[in-house]
Amino acid sequence: MSTEPLPTINPADLPKHVGIIMDGNGRWASARKLPRLEGHRRGAERIFDVVDSCIDQGIKNLTLFAFSVENWKRPEEEVNGLFKLGEWVLRANLSRLLKRKVRLRVIGDLEAMPDFVKIPLKEAIAASAENDALNLIVALNYGARQEVTLAAQKLAQDVASGKLKPEDVNWQSIESRLQTSGLPDPDLIIRTSGESRLSNFLLLQSAYAEIVIVKAHWPDFTKEEFQAALLEFTKRERRFGMTREQIQPTLKS
Ligand code: FPP
Repeated sequence: MSTEPLPTINPADLPKHVGIIMDGNGRWASARKLPRLEGHRRGAERIFDVVDSCIDQGIKNLTLFAFSVENWKRPEEEVNGLFKLGEWVLRANLSRLLKRKVRLRVIGDLEAMPDFVKIPLKEAIAASAENDALNLIVALNYGARQEVTLAAQKLAQDVASGKLKPEDVNWQSIESRLQTSGLPDPDLIIRTSGESRLSNFLLLQSAYAEIVIVKAHWPDFTKEEFQAALLEFTKRERRFGMTREQIQPTLKS
C-alpha cells in the first residue's frame, strides 16, 4: 500500500449513505491456508476502520452486509462460527461504538437469529438509540427480495383493512414500509473482492447508487482503500436520468 497521504474530500462531495458488501473473507483465508473463520475474524476487524473513517469525515450512514438470508446455506460450522464471532465483536467493541456516538440498527429478520445474537444486539440498539454521529446499519439475515415481500404484505393488509386505497400505492407508501425507511438511499455501494453483483443487497434503495468494485478481499480493505473508493465516487457524474447539460448548466455556453 502506498505511503501517500490519504486524499481529503470536500465534505459536500461525500456520499450520505455508504453500503458495503464485505466479500472475500473465505478467499483471503484460503490463499493463506487458514480456516475460513479466520478470514471472517480478520474481516470483522476491518469494520472499525471504516466506522472511524465515516465518523471522522461526517458520513452519517453506513450499511454493512454481514449475513444474507442465502448465507444459511453455508456449512453449519461456518454459520455458527459467524454468529459467535458477531456476538464477540459486538461485546468487544460496544463501548467504543457508544463513545463515538454510533447508533446501531439492524435490517433483516433479527427475530430468526439465535438468542445469544439477538438479545445483545437488541440491547445495543436500545443503548445507542440517542446517538447521532453515525447510523451503523447491520444487514443481518437480510435479503432485499424478502424485505420487499414484507413491505408488499404490509401494503396488502393496509389496503384490505381500508387504511390505504389501491390507487394511493406509490413509491412513498412502498418506501415507508421498507426496513430502511427514514434513511437516505445509499449513494455509494462498495463491493470488495472483485465481483460485480449486488447479491440481494438493498436492491430498491440502490436504484441510483454508484457501485465501486474493489479488488482487495475484505480483510485487506484498509482506510486507504476506503478513501480511494470515496474518491472514485466523487469522480462519477450522477445524472439521475437527466442530461449532462442539466447537471452542469455551465456546459451550455
Ligand atoms: C463474505 O466473505 C463475508 C461474509 C459472508 C460475512 C461478513 C462478516 C464479517 C465481516 C464478520 C462479522 C460477522 C458478523 C456476523 C457481524 P465470503 O465468506 O463470502 O468470502 P468468499 O466469497 O471469498 O468465500
